[in-house]
Amino acid sequence: MARILITSALPYINGIKHLGNLVGSQLPADLFARYCRARGHEVMFICATDEHGTPAELAAAKAGQPVAEYCAEMHLVQAELARGFRLSFDHFGRSSSQRNHALTQHLAKRLGEAGLISQISEKQVYSVADNRFLPDRYIEGTCPNCGYERARGDQCEECTKQLEPTELINPRSAISGSTDLEVRETRHLFLRQSTLRETLDKWIDSQTGWPVLTTSIAKKWLHDGDGLQDRGITRDLDWGVPAQFEGAPWQGMAGKVFYVWFDAPIEYIAATAEWADAQGLGDDAWQRWWRTDLGADDVRYVQFMGKDNVPFHTLSFPATLIGANFDGGEPWKLVDYIKSFNYLNYDGGQFSTSQGRGVFMDQALEILPADYWRWWLLSHAPENSDSEFTWENFQASVNKDLADVLGNFVSRVTKFCRSKFGEAVPEGGEWGAREAALAAALEGRLRAYEKHMEAMEIRKAAGELRALWVLGNEYLQEAAPWASFKTEPEQAAAQIRLALNLIRFYAVISQPFIPDAAQATMRALGCEDWSWPEGAEAALATMPAGHAFSVPEVLFAKISDAQREDWAAHFAGARG
Ligand code: 2FM
Ligand code: ZN
Repeated sequence: MARILITSALPYINGIKHLGNLVGSQLPADLFARYCRARGHEVMFICATDEHGTPAELAAAKAGQPVAEYCAEMHLVQAELARGFRLSFDHFGRSSSQRNHALTQHLAKRLGEAGLISQISEKQVYSVADNRFLPDRYIEGTCPNCGYERARGDQCEECTKQLEPTELINPRSAISGSTDLEVRETRHLFLRQSTLRETLDKWIDSQTGWPVLTTSIAKKWLHDGDGLQDRGITRDLDWGVPAQFEGAPWQGMAGKVFYVWFDAPIEYIAATAEWADAQGLGDDAWQRWWRTDLGADDVRYVQFMGKDNVPFHTLSFPATLIGANFDGGEPWKLVDYIKSFNYLNYDGGQFSTSQGRGVFMDQALEILPADYWRWWLLSHAPENSDSEFTWENFQASVNKDLADVLGNFVSRVTKFCRSKFGEAVPEGGEWGAREAALAAALEGRLRAYEKHMEAMEIRKAAGELRALWVLGNEYLQEAAPWASFKTEPEQAAAQIRLALNLIRFYAVISQPFIPDAAQATMRALGCEDWSWPEGAEAALATMPAGHAFSVPEVLFAKISDAQREDWAAHFAGARG
């Protein structure tokens, strides 16, 4: 049994996330967490809302609410949607928590004491019309790197380059749209990342098997141009973790807060502390996941995120943690594997929160249960390139994979058994060559499925799972117990006994993808044995003859053409 720490990138608090956000971090992280638990590992799965910085302030202003109130409400909304999608976090925290305030200040202090923070007077964009500085997302303009016209002051979403607001071409205020902007001097704390360049470079080189998408982005920002730059980690904002605090090794930061990207990843750790608090446990309970000197040395830490988040997780956050360990400091657990994703597009364009384009988590659950979405999204995860959601493709996958293949198998087997043998696993008969061949084929594919799940190759894993479901259907078609029942009822009994056990086998192994259907199936089977199949043959004999079951409700309804057209039309415009 291993100990596995899993974090999903923290969704910004600024509104309900769309399906592109979901498939880029939280959902695949959940898949992996469920799989690891199913294999008997000890898992800590953490997520939280990312509540500071300009995204939060802008959204609260738009909603006409005080930012703290807006965040508290939106956190509950996001937590509820996470439950709706069956995201199995051990804790869903808040980056505005007391724990995160304290830990962010603590780590900043450590970095300051280690000489890794400098105070620099820098030029910042000031909006005359808005009467304030415009950090990060308060300013928009054209990316100097790729020409994207809606780049934000802190990062270009298009090419992932981290930016300074002063670099934007044709800048404008995101609050008022004003272009009456000036550059004024203000003092800020800077994290001296450039001094850690070699350390980070070596650390990245020592990581084996990271996805190319992850390492190529990290290497690019380490080496391109002048290489890794020092980053301002404070902002002229009210909402956030105060940068001036008791015991801080600097002065002059009153009225400023830490940059959202400084405190957000620290919340991975703080949320684990929030979890311990919620469980009534002491500090040792969370430290054993995060401090290699306090028990985390055998933890495997895996992060999930979209590609735009990679620079912060391969460079800035490790710089914080490595820096905190300078001069015999504190050894924090660094990530072991970063699974990053490309973008999911929506019907010929991009999903967009600001433009309300695409399907959002609340809307998705209003029209169909979570499993339908989970299956489509995961089996089409944008792993090696961007992928695209279309209603046709969604309908085809649901109808074929879930309804025709898996759902149909479950329904045919249970109904046939009920009508011919009654609602209990039938006895009599023995396996023949066909059954042995099926078990061998299942075994081979199961091992491939496990291999892909362990490697977090999500599409490949989904492909194997689908192939496993298909094997059952093909077997049923060939064995044709409805025919053999007439002449050799014993043989039909053995076939149906196998098929009922195969339904259980499917529920157990499909649970990470479609947890609700798996639960419903196991409930109908009257089976609580969720143990992962060690071998297919043994697994197909889990429920003995005589074990009572009932026919489950239809697991997956087909999506009709009319429904598809309706939804496509409904979601064609921007969200109101
Ligand atoms: O890109 C985003 O949605 C950020 N809120 C991700 C933060 S991840 C972590 F560092 F907190
Ligand atoms: Zn760009």
